[in-house]
Amino acid sequence: MNFFLETLQVLILSLWYNIEAFFRFFIPAKRKNVAGEVVLITGAGSGIGRLMALEFAGLGTVLVLWDINQEGIKETARLAKERGAIRVHYYLCDCSDKNEVYSVADQVKREVGDVSILINNAGIVTGKKFMDAPDSLVEKTMEVNTMAHFWTYKAFLPAMLANNHGHLVSIASTAGLVGVNGLADYCASKFGAVGFAESVGLELLATGKDGVKTTIVCPYFINTGMFDGCQTKWPTLLPILEPDYVVRKIIQAILTDQVFLLMPRSMYLITALRTTLNWKMTSLLGDYLGLSDRVDHYYKNLSLLPKRH
Ligand SMILES: NC(=O)c1ccc[n+]([C@@H]2O[C@H](COP(=O)([O-])OP(=O)(O)OC[C@H]3O[C@@H](n4cnc5c(N)ncnc54)[C@H](O)[C@@H]3O)[C@@H](O)[C@H]2O)c1
Repeated sequence: MNFFLETLQVLILSLWYNIEAFFRFFIPAKRKNVAGEVVLITGAGSGIGRLMALEFAGLGTVLVLWDINQEGIKETARLAKERGAIRVHYYLCDCSDKNEVYSVADQVKREVGDVSILINNAGIVTGKKFMDAPDSLVEKTMEVNTMAHFWTYKAFLPAMLANNHGHLVSIASTAGLVGVNGLADYCASKFGAVGFAESVGLELLATGKDGVKTTIVCPYFINTGMFDGCQTKWPTLLPILEPDYVVRKIIQAILTDQVFLLMPRSMYLITALRTTLNWKMTSLLGDYLGLSDRVDHYYKNLSLLPKRH
């Protein structure tokens, strides 16, 4: 195709996609049926991992729950059974350990079967500014928040590819789209998670495996305890999110094959401005929105709390 024809095709398709997106705003896309699907959630022992498990339980799925917190996953499994999950299997798995991920994944394949919806949710934050963070905690953050996604994909993607059916979900963060003062290792790990998930999604599209979907979730601070003490300067524009709301939006995004989910909505505009404005304006906007100093309250609060790690 020559330059003129290809450009014309892109312009017409862009117009069509925008019209489609405009109507999608008012008429939500049809939800897919996930009854009978095998859903694996890492970090399911608490927070939004647990809440996602309970939502999927109500949709008639088979649940596979992973965490390092034995009591936490046991409790999630109990609640999920009450909610109507067909079957619930839970496993202790330290996602920061590649060999453990591969060995528990083999056990899952033997005992449960192929995973068709994989949700990489386990996450940690060191709670230390970059120069204060010991190397071991920085490495752990990268291993749990980023590298674990590589190993779980390697373990479960082959079956999805063979069936041309599946869904890869990455619970990242807006800290994976915009750098945050005081969260260097966490941001690096979440940027890594976003880049990895987006690239594999594109690789799948390029190989014609359109039955394997990707959803990348980037929420602002959520009221789960992970960032206890973080405050927001403008609660209407950038609210601290409620876990129930976040999970409702994630489930909706998965069921409608939405590729990117940013929360709150203002983050779509903020991330677009971040890449288009000049640096001085970006940092002015960061100060105005309170993105530059919000974690200071978190660090003050951390010194009052027992250590998480
Ligand atoms: N809370 C927030 O403000 C916020 C904002 C954006 C994104 N997120 C992301 O959402 C996800 C869930 O966070 P949450 O707020 O529910 O926090 P949470 O601390 O309640 O849940 C995290 C879970 O991961 C588990 N986990 C930690 N290390 C693990 C390991 N090595 N192997 C297996 N499991 C492990 C924990 O035991 C815990 O159950 C995380 O990836 C987090 O980075 C959280």
